[in-house]
Amino acid sequence: MRNLNANNITDAVIEEFSGCRDERLKTILNSLVTHLHAFLREVEPTEQEWTEAIDFLTRTGQMCDDQRQEFILLSDTLGVTMLVDALNHQTSDPMVSESTVLGPFYVPDPPQASQGESIDWNVEGEPFLVEGRVHDELGQPLANVVVDVWQSDSEGFYDVQKELESASLRARFTTDDQGRYAFWTVTPAPYPIPTDGPVGKMLEITGRHPYRPAHVHFMLMAEGFDTLVTQVFAEDDPYLDSDAVFGVKDSLVKEYKLLPPGRAPDGRAMEVPFRHLTYDFGLKASR
Ligand code: BEZ
Ligand code: FE
Repeated sequence: MRNLNANNITDAVIEEFSGCRDERLKTILNSLVTHLHAFLREVEPTEQEWTEAIDFLTRTGQMCDDQRQEFILLSDTLGVTMLVDALNHQTSDPMVSESTVLGPFYVPDPPQASQGESIDWNVEGEPFLVEGRVHDELGQPLANVVVDVWQSDSEGFYDVQKELESASLRARFTTDDQGRYAFWTVTPAPYPIPTDGPVGKMLEITGRHPYRPAHVHFMLMAEGFDTLVTQVFAEDDPYLDSDAVFGVKDSLVKEYKLLPPGRAPDGRAMEVPFRHLTYDFGLKASR
């Protein structure tokens, strides 16, 4: 293979992969080379621009460690995470809940909590009762579903960002025999995704804001069902239509209803105003 130019180099590179014995990998690489070369032919980067692109990716890698994953943030802010999600979890069944981005703040094996418990350990904020039911595609309640929840505090920070000594605003619940889950927390706030790395710089120089609308994260796991990774967003949030990571879907937006002091729906006596969210989840049977 010699005398390659802008017209024939793509085929030459693809030919070099022809001996790849993993058919799926070969398909992926052929497509990657085809699209990457087409992108470059379209954009015609200068060598200076290409060096800057490599430098950006290098800095993105250098920002990563076991706590921080800047490449996922890049995928999130370019809409790639949500595209992969859409390709894998598209559902038109209204009985199956929609999924959205996991985000970087999930911590496996959160503290186990019991039905109705408060998870606002060591944090202050407006009280918030979150409850609902988990059902299958026919609407039948699902018992013993593991429901992991995590969220920011009322200032928009996760416990892991504040280096608290123990977990807060994250917990694991198990649905009861009627498929119910319930917990008390504080109302989460909108917050900026981490902006101290190259992705933050990209948002800044392209005139994009880094904010996500207020949300509570959920991961639901049950034997025989697809794991659901999702979030429920506050209906009145100003960032619903400009989420920095493109994660909002209409079906995941719900009122965080403001209620006056008095008896809460679960019987708790409230001396201050509080919010209430009810949200039911539908799980899809694994096939
Ligand atoms: C989150 O919702 O926790 C999140 C998602 C994507 C990027 C950053 C944060
Ligand atoms: Fe979040």
